[in-house]
Amino acid sequence: MTDYTTLQADLLRRVEGAADTAALETVRVEAVGKAGAVSALLKSLGTMSPEARRTHGPAINALRDRVAAAIAARRAALEAEALDARLAAGRLDLSLPAPPRRTGAVHPTMQVMDEMVAIFAELGFSLAEGPDIEDDFHNFTALNFPPRHPARETHDTFFFAPGPDGERKLLRTHTSPVQVRTMRRTNTPPPAPWIAAGQAPPIRVIVPGRTYRRDSDATHTPMFHQLEGLVIDRGIHMGHLKWTLNTFIARFFELQSVVTRFRPHHFPFTEPSAEMDVQCDTSGGEVRIGQGHEWSEIVGCGMVHPKVLRNCGIDPDAWQGFAFGFGVDRLGRLKYGMPDLRDMFASDVRWLAHYGFSPFAAPNPASGLS
Ligand code: DAH
Repeated sequence: MTDYTTLQADLLRRVEGAADTAALETVRVEAVGKAGAVSALLKSLGTMSPEARRTHGPAINALRDRVAAAIAARRAALEAEALDARLAAGRLDLSLPAPPRRTGAVHPTMQVMDEMVAIFAELGFSLAEGPDIEDDFHNFTALNFPPRHPARETHDTFFFAPGPDGERKLLRTHTSPVQVRTMRRTNTPPPAPWIAAGQAPPIRVIVPGRTYRRDSDATHTPMFHQLEGLVIDRGIHMGHLKWTLNTFIARFFELQSVVTRFRPHHFPFTEPSAEMDVQCDTSGGEVRIGQGHEWSEIVGCGMVHPKVLRNCGIDPDAWQGFAFGFGVDRLGRLKYGMPDLRDMFASDVRWLAHYGFSPFAAPNPASGLS
């Protein structure tokens, strides 16, 4: 019996004295491991007489339980100590604010495009697209630009070096070439399933896209965005054009009705041609559409020139049409008030955080702000 007490006291002292889990493991193996002192005692029970076993059995079992419990307690204490040490070393400051999560923003131009497309989709227009790199025929000739028109000069247009056949490709200066591609049906197969293929009349398409000109000041950037519209059907007249644009403008600027005016203008591909202005008030530095006594130019438009129809294989005596071309960035500035057009493409994330839109809001034709 005395043996057990001494052995227990010795083992417990060593368990308490174990400085880390490795030292504790050594003690555990020496005590209750396969060849350990306590295990040896347990094994010796098998060789004892029944009477001896009755006295020694409970004592040995109690010794084993006591030592095992001490080892478990010491292990828990050592692990807690190790965790405390790790936390102290890591200086985990739970009072620090969490790092901010960055959410991207939708660029105002893309937001405005989405709003425009949603409104025109409701009016029954489908989407058409064409390439940014165009040829002279689609960008100018088919659209009835005379051979010496100033827009053909390098002054306005980004031309590529001539190819082996002498042809100079160019960056399209407007989205109007897609009118030609749509009417001539050369745009098939469409570049994506949601893009309308070129088609025979009746035609009702819009063309959102990038356009390029050699221009840079507060209201011009070398790359900008347009949204073109084209309607070809029987008996189409200026009244249809006017209703379509007025309806669009009222929806876009969220107004019950708007006062607009058509000013005579000249485009080679329309006859008659006009620019539509919308009533606005710029006093106080802010543009308020639908109020005041001033006018803001908003879209170029007109009836499709018979020569253009003919260039696209459409009989002008059977079909008429109207077309229009919006400057998307300009329209966005009028609605959301960005002062300098160049900022829109400077890729400054602070600007985007300020003027950008939530990517999680569905494009709402009524308002990009909701
Ligand atoms: N393409 C013209 C431009 O870039 C805009 C335009 C004017 C488009 C009248 C049209 C139109 O379709 O009918 O300045």
